[in-house]
Amino acid sequence: MFQVQFVSCSTEETMRIAERFGQEAGAGDLFALDGDLGAGKTHFSKGLAKGLGIKAMVNSPTFTILKVYNGRLPFYHIDAYRLDENEEEELGLDEYMDGGGVTVVEWAGNIQTQLPNRRVTITFKRTNEQERELIVCTDSPRFEQIFKEFTDL
Ligand SMILES: Nc1ncnc2c1ncn2[C@@H]1O[C@H](COP(=O)(O)OP(=O)(O)OP(=O)(O)O)[C@@H](O)[C@H]1O
Ligand SMILES: [Mg+2]
Repeated sequence: MFQVQFVSCSTEETMRIAERFGQEAGAGDLFALDGDLGAGKTHFSKGLAKGLGIKAMVNSPTFTILKVYNGRLPFYHIDAYRLDENEEEELGLDEYMDGGGVTVVEWAGNIQTQLPNRRVTITFKRTNEQERELIVCTDSPRFEQIFKEFTDL
């Protein structure tokens, strides 16, 4: 398992990092995002979409739970903010996550038990007004190149 920390100093930088993940992402990849309100999860999702070649505007689907977009691969944008971990409601998200697309889940902690183990976990921390820490955990070597690009490893 790799754990890498990025520091982003602007919304643009967060989106640029995410866009690279979108470019490298493959069928079945799932990005599980966690962090407080306004931590930058939706900006990351927008960047991911851009990297997948999606032109449509991607917004937080807070009231719809799931939005589907078509890019280089299908893109499933899930926002679990309104879902409760203790509510054992089966969402039936498997058909999306096992499919040939790329999935991003905001507030992933709320549906942790329903997520596959093979995932890229990204925790967002707000360090000041413009700065965010992104802690990325993955066992996929596919994203190694991105780690080299954005950190001083
Ligand atoms: N480096 C940064 N990266 C991302 N967002 C930043 C950064 N600096 C400041 N911001 C601001 O933080 C906010 C991030 O909003 P965003 O909707 O992406 O967060 P979120 O984690 O999805 O929040 P929510 O949980 O409410 O959906 C925006 O207002 C954005 O302008
Ligand atoms: Mg959001």
